[in-house]
Amino acid sequence: MKTLGVGLAALAFLVLASGIPSGGAWADESGAAAAKKDYEVYCVQCHGLRRNGTGVNVPHMSVKPRDHTDAKAMGDLPDDQIFRAIKEGGLANNKSVLMPSFGAVLSDDKITDMVAYLRQVCKCGPSR
Ligand code: HEC
Repeated sequence: MKTLGVGLAALAFLVLASGIPSGGAWADESGAAAAKKDYEVYCVQCHGLRRNGTGVNVPHMSVKPRDHTDAKAMGDLPDDQIFRAIKEGGLANNKSVLMPSFGAVLSDDKITDMVAYLRQVCKCGPSR
């Protein structure tokens, strides 16, 4: 019996130590990697695969999308303004309505991640 007890304890230890993912492993992806994917789905058609405002829609647009690699222009935008532009659209910042609002598709957390990602793209700003 004693051996069985030790065996069970060892087994329990193995199960615990074997790296069974603990909470969160299957949770929604977040952070820069997820923001990059979101960008590729929702933003590139206007802001461009190179993030420099040269998306496929551009020839047909009367107001050009922001060049997200422009450290000066992006550096002048505070985080809360970038957040608002993404969540509520350009109009909320007195900018063009051609910048759509993404509040219905991206959660606040995802938009916060996107702001941080844009800071990496522009290599500028407070959260760099
Ligand atoms: C349909 C085209 C379009 C799509 C899609 C789009 N944008 Fe824009 N975006 C624009 C345009 C146009 C502007 C410039 C608005 C202006 O200067 O008046 C802009 C401006 C911006 C700005 C600057 C806002 C400001 O206040 O100066 C940010 C930040 C931005 N976009 C982020 C994003 C992100 C992130 C996505 C994807 C989630 C995205 N955009 C998708 C067209 C688009």
